[in-house]
Amino acid sequence: IPVDPFDLVVFGGTGDLARRKILPALFRRFCAGQMGANARVIGAARADMDDAGYRSFVSDAIAEFDPDAARHKDHLDSFLANVSYVVLDAKGDAGWDKLAATVQKGRVHAYYFSVGPGLFGDLAQRLHTYGMADANSRIVVEKPFGHDLASARDLNRVLAQHFDEHQVYRIDHYLGKETVQNLMAVRFGNMLFEPLWNSQYVDHIQITVAESVGVGGRGDYYDRAGAMRDMMQNHLMQLLCLIAMEPPAKFDPDAVRDEKLKVIRALDPVAPDNVVRGQYEADGDAPDYRTQVETPDSRTESFVALKAHISNWRWAGTPFYLRTGKRLKDRASEIAVVFKEAPHSIFGAEAGRHRNILTIKLQPNEGIELGVTIKEPGPGGMRLLDVPLDMTFAEALGEDGPDFPDAYERLIMDVIRGNQTLFMRGDEVEAAWQWADPVIQVWEEGGETPIPYASGSAGPDDALMLMHRDGRRWREIK
Ligand code: BG6
Repeated sequence: IPVDPFDLVVFGGTGDLARRKILPALFRRFCAGQMGANARVIGAARADMDDAGYRSFVSDAIAEFDPDAARHKDHLDSFLANVSYVVLDAKGDAGWDKLAATVQKGRVHAYYFSVGPGLFGDLAQRLHTYGMADANSRIVVEKPFGHDLASARDLNRVLAQHFDEHQVYRIDHYLGKETVQNLMAVRFGNMLFEPLWNSQYVDHIQITVAESVGVGGRGDYYDRAGAMRDMMQNHLMQLLCLIAMEPPAKFDPDAVRDEKLKVIRALDPVAPDNVVRGQYEADGDAPDYRTQVETPDSRTESFVALKAHISNWRWAGTPFYLRTGKRLKDRASEIAVVFKEAPHSIFGAEAGRHRNILTIKLQPNEGIELGVTIKEPGPGGMRLLDVPLDMTFAEALGEDGPDFPDAYERLIMDVIRGNQTLFMRGDEVEAAWQWADPVIQVWEEGGETPIPYASGSAGPDDALMLMHRDGRRWREIK
């Protein structure tokens, strides 16, 4: 369904995020017919460039980051016809009159703050001063939304001076992933799971977001953040919320976000001995973490695993084990809901102990797998065997099934449609920092160094111990 005509201003329009994600996503939606021919994209940044120069920048970005660029090439010129550029000083007045004259009144204006949080206040204020903010305006901000609770509160305050909460779209791109949204469809669209979705039947839940890549060229940012701030406080927290929340009455922004917020607020503080941090070691030619971030004594973690408890009626007694890290064995993100064993085995001790595990595979090979127990075929006794009921979405939907759009495609269109369901509300982000801050504070005050782990492994052994000591084990990263 095409969205209404809009103007999207990308502040930081020549930056890495714009190049890799925002511009290719817009182009793909244009090709899909969702972004009408009259929608306009206006890049704004400090770099001295004219419209033609920016169009060639956009065209290069598309060639590099739209996997279907070749198939889409006939659409490129008409897309670029609506792309323009303004040289702008976020902290001064240069360029703002021109931008104000470019943005059309009477249509949706989305302002994408693809810049460091230090500029949010300047941009928000100037949008007002130059008459570009009205009821049709929306602003989009990226993570990291703050560095801790205090800075997140400051950012919320700065934005609130100029925009209402319903105009602020805080992106967590995990919420734009098809499979993450599918979590809600699986939970609330099926009768099968929900009655068992509680501590009476669920032994524990594991959430893994493993990456095989290192920090790459982002060492400067990453070393100030670490896995806890970069991934745990936001992406894994969002996954935890969607898996653990109560059914919202409606699939609407506040109904969903109210339920997520309740989960975060019900989280117990994490005890220091329930957290493990790691830092990756060198691997052949690939440098170790410290070399990569050019900080020989860095104490920043590239891996974190922890055990969380949600103190409410549904989940008291069911631990949630979360882990994420870089340079791990593989790129694999999944959520595993591990059910309890049957209370009594009618087949006797030799049949072994069996558990159902529902695995939601987020990426790659998106799908759902349900481990069920069956009889081992053969004439022998009643021996039991666990087999997967496996559904890979790509197979289930067939070759002609719909594509999985990139998270940014979905999220940017939601901004234009004015739908905040998949964006974080200010209070939600603050609550997540409130939970993460004390964990980080202990590390910062203790001055301990993260445990080294081999690149290509599953992280430090201590992370395995986190589960072993509870008589459980992590699923293999594969
Ligand atoms: C980003 C983090 O938010 O998410 C990166 O800053 C991380 O460090 C990335 O690599 C992972 O996203 P995805 O979509 O590749 O799982």
